Amino acid sequence: MVGRNLISVLVVDDEANQRTALASMIEGWGYRVQTASDGQEALDRLREFDASVVITDLMMPVLDGKELLRRLHEQPRHPLAIVLTAFGNIETALETVHDLGAFWFLEKPLEPRALRLLLERAAEQRRLESYSAELERQLAGQGVLGELVGSSPAMQSVYSLIRQVAPTRATVLISGESGTGKELAARAIHSLSPRRDGPFVAVNCASMPEALIESELFGHEKGSFTGAVERRRGCFELAHEGTLLLDEIGDMPALTQAKLLRVLEDKRIRRIGGAKEIEVDVRVVASTNRPLDEMARDGKFREDLFFRLAVFRVELPPLRERKQDLPALCAALISTLNARHECRVAGLHPETFEILSQHDWPGNVRELRNVLEYAVILAGEGEALPSHLPRSGGLPVRHPAPPAAAAADGVLLPVGTTLERAERELIELTLRHTANNKTRAATILGVSPKTLFNKLREYGAADAGE
Ligand SMILES: Nc1ncnc2c1ncn2[C@@H]1O[C@H](COP(=O)(O)OP(=O)(O)OP(=O)(O)O)[C@@H](O)[C@H]1O
Ligand SMILES: [Mg+2]
Repeated sequence: MVGRNLISVLVVDDEANQRTALASMIEGWGYRVQTASDGQEALDRLREFDASVVITDLMMPVLDGKELLRRLHEQPRHPLAIVLTAFGNIETALETVHDLGAFWFLEKPLEPRALRLLLERAAEQRRLESYSAELERQLAGQGVLGELVGSSPAMQSVYSLIRQVAPTRATVLISGESGTGKELAARAIHSLSPRRDGPFVAVNCASMPEALIESELFGHEKGSFTGAVERRRGCFELAHEGTLLLDEIGDMPALTQAKLLRVLEDKRIRRIGGAKEIEVDVRVVASTNRPLDEMARDGKFREDLFFRLAVFRVELPPLRERKQDLPALCAALISTLNARHECRVAGLHPETFEILSQHDWPGNVRELRNVLEYAVILAGEGEALPSHLPRSGGLPVRHPAPPAAAAADGVLLPVGTTLERAERELIELTLRHTANNKTRAATILGVSPKTLFNKLREYGAADAGE
């Protein structure tokens, strides 16, 4: 059986006879087994014995089974726990699985076949976990973590920090200039954490009027202020058992900062106008493009909140300091943009790449993405040429003559053509050039797809009336 030799089991029970009997039965199935007589001894033993599974009784002296589970869960890579519960006590059993994260439970007296099956399942789960960890490691070696791309030393150390902190409950402060991938980093932390199946909620603390932000974060009861026509759950409640990203935390109003600090300490919120406190289990990640440490020092941000948030810090490097990531970033972004706009751009012409690598990218990867989006739509297929780059935005200008296709495809308009007629000719010509792809045509013409649709509808109506 695959995986069976992979896993070792720690049996924890204060009853010596049961412990020994259970241990020798499991050993008989081919697993490596050790024993402990209570929770404390189990924790001590686990320092040297790298068990994949812990089978534990609940009622034990010194440190009971529930406390053992709690302590295990504070550790990044902890064994899977199978809990032995009293017969018929399904409530407690489910609680250990739901609240304490046990792998599963078995009722006493033990049914050996059930235990054997469960151990096989646990072995399989461990095998899949180490398989996906290995894949992740390989991808990181190639310069990918979650949706983050780049294998420069600066990004490698970001990946390594993220991998270390993700499995814990620690609050993380992500800083970096605008467009450096702070939100992607937050998502990576969530998806590499045990909360990955829970919600990921992002709230922008800058884009909201002061009065609304607290309702956004904590929710409100119906009628708690003018305009509160319905009860509303806030982001903390929505992110229960998941991760909450507080984006642009540096812009959070001072009063809200004080309330946030209290929520982080108490792990409870109270909706605006609400009487009862609601317990929330939320992992908080905050992001900022402002120097929060300086702001805290200068009294522009609460210092206590800063220290609470910055338990662990991840700093994303600006793109100009990791230009060696440009080829990989361009390739990844072009492939996403091709899919999004139904284009088939194979890559960048060497001269196009040369122009991009001379730019300083003050808007970082977001700016690069916007430039490539324009180029992909304009090129449609083949190589993106320098002439496909936007002419505004501070890219080094080195645009040679317009591409042959566009020159040959020009419009010749005799004097006397009305502006309306000229516009229609140009739109129709552009649509032919894009094989009737309206989104691409709109981009080339510099109007929104909606404007283009409206124009086409007007022409349709005019034609029908002719
Ligand atoms: N390392 C990266 N690899 C791939 N794409 C990236 C990377 N960094 C950023 N992006 C892309 O750039 C854009 C901006 O990323 P993101 O929203 O995470 O930046 P941000 O740091 O949160 O910016 P802001 O401070 O303006 O909110 C997104 O489209 C994202 O997909
Ligand atoms: Mg952001």
